[in-house]
Amino acid sequence: MNYPNLPKDCTSMLCKHLSPEVFEALKDKKTANGFTLEQAINSGVLNLDSGIGVYAGDAESYELFDGLFDPIIEDYHGFGKNDKHQSNLNPDDLKAPNPDPEGKFIVSTRIRVGRNVANLPLGPAISKEQRDFVESSVVEGLNTLEGELKGSYHPLLGMSKEVQDDLIKDHFLFKEGDRFLDAVGLNRNWPEGRGIYHNTDKTFLVWVNEEDQLRIISMQQGGDIKEVFTRLVSAIKSIETKVPFSYNDHLGYITSCPTNLGTAMRASVHIAVPKLAEDMDAFKAITDKHHLQIRGIHGEHSQSEGGVYDISNLRRLGITEVEAVQDMYDGVVALITAEKAL
Ligand code: ADP
Ligand code: ARG
Repeated sequence: MNYPNLPKDCTSMLCKHLSPEVFEALKDKKTANGFTLEQAINSGVLNLDSGIGVYAGDAESYELFDGLFDPIIEDYHGFGKNDKHQSNLNPDDLKAPNPDPEGKFIVSTRIRVGRNVANLPLGPAISKEQRDFVESSVVEGLNTLEGELKGSYHPLLGMSKEVQDDLIKDHFLFKEGDRFLDAVGLNRNWPEGRGIYHNTDKTFLVWVNEEDQLRIISMQQGGDIKEVFTRLVSAIKSIETKVPFSYNDHLGYITSCPTNLGTAMRASVHIAVPKLAEDMDAFKAITDKHHLQIRGIHGEHSQSEGGVYDISNLRRLGITEVEAVQDMYDGVVALITAEKAL
C-alpha cells in the first residue's frame, strides 16, 4: 500500500496526523486479528469529509498503531499517552436538578454508552460467526433482566421496513447504510447479527452489533437528566454481570472509534433554542466553553429542525461518567439562560 491521496484542504484528524513518516512506520503491521493500517484509515480515505477518519479493529490496534491513534486521542480528548482513565458511575455525585421543569426547552434526554465484549475483535475485524456469537450471548444476558429493564429483543433480520423506519424516525434505532461505517467493514453481513432490545416504554434500549457491539441507552421525554443517568447505571451494572466488557486502565472502555473511548458515553438533550440559534457564533461560544457538541435531531451528520438541536458532551476519555454528564448539564443550563435572555 502507498501513502493515500489526502488533499491539502482535508480537515479530518486522519489528514492532520497521518504524515508520510507515520504511515511508513505502521503500514506493514498487523494485529493478531489481522487488522491493518489500511483498514484503520480506509473510512477517512474514502470519506474526506470525515471529522476523524479512523477506526480500530481490536484493542491491540490502539497499541500497534499508536503513532496514529495517540495524537488523534490527544487532539480529540486532550488525553495523553501516560494518562489513566477513571470511572465514576455513582448517580449521587451528579448535581443535576431538572433545569427545565416546565418543559419549555428540553424535549428529551438520552444517555448512551458503547461497550464491546472482552477478548473478541471489535466490529471492523469481527467474523460473521463471532458477531453472531456476540448477538446470542448478549441477548441471552438481556433476557434475564428484570423490573424496569425487562424487555424483548427485535432482530433487524425479518423486521419489516415500516417498523424499522418508525423506530429510526422516533430516535430509537440506528440508521442503515452509514458510509463511514461501511468503509471500515462495520456493515458486513448486514442485517444479520444486528438488532435492538428495549423495554415496553422504550426508556431502556440496547443496540446490538452496530458501530459497537453494545450501545446501552437510557432515554425519556423531558429534562430529568439524573433519572436518565440513574437508569443507565443500573442497566450497565446488570449487563456487566452477564457480559464481560473490553476495558483497560489507560483507555477505559474500548470502542471502535477513538472518539468514544473511556466512558464511551454520550449524554444529550434535544433542546429548543430557536432564538439563540439565529446567532450561531454566540451559540457555539457557549457549547465550546462547556465542551459540548451540536448535532441535528436525527443523530450524527443530520440537520436541526425547528430550532431543536442535539447537545451532548464532546469529551469521553480522561473524565468520569459523572463529569461527562455534568459537562452536558452545565452547558444546557447556560444555553437555557441565554435563550431566556433573548
Ligand atoms: P449515538 O448517540 O449513538 O452516537 P446518533 O448521534 O446517531 O448516535 O444518535 C442516535 C439516535 O439517538 C438518533 O436517532 C438521535 O436522534 C437520537 N437521540 C440522540 N439524542 C437524543 C435525545 N436527547 N433525545 C431523543 N433522541 C436522541
Ligand atoms: N468516522 C466518522 C467521522 O470521522 C465519525 C466519527 C465520530 N462518530 C462516530 N459515530 N464514531 O466523521
